[in-house]
Amino acid sequence: MQTKSAYQMPVSPMAAAVQPSATLAAGAKARQLKTQGIHVYDFSLGEPDFTTPEHIMQAAADAMKAGHTHYTAASGIVELRQAICRWYKKTYGIDYTAEQVIVSNGAKHSIHNTLASIVGPGDEVIIPSPYWVSYSDLVQMTGATYKLVHCSAESGFKMTPAQLKAAISPRSKLLMLNSPSNPTGAVYSRKELESLADVVLDSNLAVLSDEIYEQLVYGDAQATCFAAMRKELYDRTITISGASKSYAMTGWRMGWALGPLHVIKAMGNVQSQQTSCPSSISQYTAVAALDGDQQCVADMRKEFAARRELVLRRLKEIPGVAILPPDGAFYAFFDVSKHFGRTLGGKPVTDSASFCLVALEAAHVNLVQGSAFGAEGYVRMSYATSREQINGGLDRLEQLLK
Ligand SMILES: Cc1ncc(COP(=O)(O)O)c(C=O)c1O
Repeated sequence: MQTKSAYQMPVSPMAAAVQPSATLAAGAKARQLKTQGIHVYDFSLGEPDFTTPEHIMQAAADAMKAGHTHYTAASGIVELRQAICRWYKKTYGIDYTAEQVIVSNGAKHSIHNTLASIVGPGDEVIIPSPYWVSYSDLVQMTGATYKLVHCSAESGFKMTPAQLKAAISPRSKLLMLNSPSNPTGAVYSRKELESLADVVLDSNLAVLSDEIYEQLVYGDAQATCFAAMRKELYDRTITISGASKSYAMTGWRMGWALGPLHVIKAMGNVQSQQTSCPSSISQYTAVAALDGDQQCVADMRKEFAARRELVLRRLKEIPGVAILPPDGAFYAFFDVSKHFGRTLGGKPVTDSASFCLVALEAAHVNLVQGSAFGAEGYVRMSYATSREQINGGLDRLEQLLK
C-alpha cells in the first residue's frame, strides 16, 4: 500500500466551486450531536416526516414482483409520463403529451437537467431572493452566472414586475420562479404572476417554474401553474415538480419536468448519458401516487396546516422574533436580527449563522441560517415534524431567547 505520495489528484474548478447543500450540512451537524446521545429538535430538513402512503409502497412491491427491475426508457416509462399529463390536465386544464415530459431522479435533478439544457457560459439566470439554496450552485455548475433580485419582507418576499424589468440584461436568458417558495413559504397570486408574465413576454427570457410545493398551500392561497396561464408562457416555460413533498416520497427520488418538445428531448439526451434512467421501481410508485386516491395528500396537508398554526402561535410569544405568515410549503422563515449583538448561551450572536450555532449548541434546536438562502437576519424552521417536536423545540428556543 502506498503511504506517501507527492501526487495530489486534482479537483476541477467546477467541482471545487460547488458548496455543500447548507440544509443537508445542518442535518449532519445535528446527527453528530445525536450520536452523543443528545436529543436534538431538528427543524433543518425539508422533507415530510410521514411514511410514504401504504398504497404507494404496495405499488413498489408489485412492480418488483412483476419484474420491473430493469433499465427503462431514459426519460421515464410512458405510463408515468402519461399519468403526469393526466394530472396536469385535471389540475390546471393544461395539455402536454408524454413526449413533453421527462422524469428524473428527484426535482433537483430535473432542475439540473433543465439548466444544463438551456444555459451555459456567458448566460445569466435571474433568481428572486430569498431562494432555495441549490439554485445558485446548480446554475454555476453549467458555467452560467446568476443575478439575485432581493425581495423584501415588505413585498411578501415576492419579486415585483419593476424589479424583474430592472434585472434583465442582454445576457439574461432564464428566470427561475419558485412558488410556493422554499424558504419563505410565499405563494404568488395569479394576478402577481400575470404581471410578471407581462415583463417576461416582453423579453427574451425563458422560465423555469419550480412548483414542487404546489399541493401544500393553506387558507385562501392557491398555487398557480405559470405555464398554464397563457399559450405564450407555455412555449417558454419548463415546469418542475415531483413526488417528494406532496406524497412523502423524498427517498424514492421522483421529479419531473414538462415543457417544449425540443428542450425536453435535449434533456432526455443529457439524462441518457448521465444516469440512463430514473429508478424503475420508483417510477411505478409515482404512477400509483398520481393516479391513486388523493386523500393521503389532503390528510398530510391538514396536518401541515395545523403545525403551521402552532408554529405561528408559538413564535408570536417569543421576544425579538418577527414572522410573515407563510402561505405554502412547510417552512417558517423568521427574522431574528433583533438578537444580533447579544450573548446567548455564553456566545456572541452576530448573524444568522452564529444564531443557528448557538441555538444548536445551547438549546439543541437545529435551524438553518437565512444567509444560506440569501436573506441575512432570518432563520428557516421546517415544520415537517411532529407537534411534540415543535412544542419541545420552541420551548427551548423561547428559554434561550428570553
Ligand atoms: C424548492 C425546491 N425545489 C426542488 C426540491 C427538490 O426536491 P426533490 O429533489 O426531492 O424532488 C426541493 C427540495 O427541498 C425544494 O425545496
